Amino acid sequence: MPVTGVASAKAVPKAGVLPSEEIIFGCSAAMQPIRQMINKVLGTNLPVLIQGENGTGKGLLAQYIHARSKFASGACVKVNCAAIPGSLLESELFGYEKGAFTDAHTSRPGYVEMADNGTLFLDEISDLDLSLQAKTLQLLQDGQFSRIGDTHERRVNTRVICATNRKLEDEIAAGRFRQDLFYRINVVTVNLPPLRERREDIPGLANYCLEQFNSRFEREAPPLPGEVLDALSRKEWRGNIRELENMVARYAILGALDGFASEDPWKRPSASPKVSVDGTVSLKHIARQAVREMESNVILQVLRENKWNRRKAANALNISYRALIYKIQEAGLAQRHHRKSNPARVEPTQATPSPD
Ligand SMILES: Nc1ncnc2c1ncn2[C@@H]1O[C@H](COP(=O)(O)OP(=O)(O)OP(=O)(O)O)[C@@H](O)[C@H]1O
Ligand SMILES: [Mg+2]
Repeated sequence: MPVTGVASAKAVPKAGVLPSEEIIFGCSAAMQPIRQMINKVLGTNLPVLIQGENGTGKGLLAQYIHARSKFASGACVKVNCAAIPGSLLESELFGYEKGAFTDAHTSRPGYVEMADNGTLFLDEISDLDLSLQAKTLQLLQDGQFSRIGDTHERRVNTRVICATNRKLEDEIAAGRFRQDLFYRINVVTVNLPPLRERREDIPGLANYCLEQFNSRFEREAPPLPGEVLDALSRKEWRGNIRELENMVARYAILGALDGFASEDPWKRPSASPKVSVDGTVSLKHIARQAVREMESNVILQVLRENKWNRRKAANALNISYRALIYKIQEAGLAQRHHRKSNPARVEPTQATPSPD
């Protein structure tokens, strides 16, 4: 996938770095019709309009469509229409010929040409100037455009994806968006639901983000416990997946979970001495219980200091790896850390000890 040569245009990363289809669409009812629709349009060159609140994954979905489409071998050129002033955006988008304006010392292609045989991703399309909307309309109608200062019409074969977090109908009513352009870009419309309308996907997304951060920052933060995932699934998430991602990043790096700060999610409830029904207390039993309690606290602390690398923890505790595994099992530490969070990732060491 070629990298574009213009500083403000962004080339999209390779398909390999995108989350899997299962992660992108999750298992929620709200996302399944979207998944089916996207899969149907991948093989076409139909324009796609992606609408959704901030942080719902519009940019990511655009990358996914490009990476899985027949335009994947071309460039995916992202243009943030809100970030570039209208006058500059025209020359950046459509390019210019030498002498077209004072600073045009050489001819230069624009983003549109760079996206030939690829994807042109017009992000924040509602911010596109009215004058540029007319030129964009022509591009969408017949694939033709001309560089500034050029009379020659050029033609490109490109898939156009637009994204917005505003309702384009409102923009049309306010006279800020051309209705004819709206009809052109609105061939296939995807309304990405906010995260609070796809709560079933939250645990999967949180686990995915944690894996990503652990590998990106070389951390070994333990899986999010089931009760934390349950609590995350109930939050409002006004910032949607971006907010969730940021929270998981803070957890992976700082070990902190907002809203759980006062209560360490890894802390085990402290055991109290067992008093039998007749009111007697076994001193022997209490002593054994206290030793076990203290031992498991130390093990937990050392495991955390070694980012749950059990081989390193065993060395630090000066016990064998096998002994440590036995103690982790006996104290129920592993169950606590893996419970509910990801049944598929239950530690094999619970049955057969193996090196980390
Ligand atoms: N399904 C997903 N799986 C994993 N990560 C996701 C998913 N959707 C979005 N993200 C991540 O969440 C963050 C926000 O996504 P993205 O930037 O695509 O949202 P957006 O809707 O374009 O936001 P904005 O409106 O602010 O531009 C990104 O870091 C993205 O990688
Ligand atoms: Mg975006």
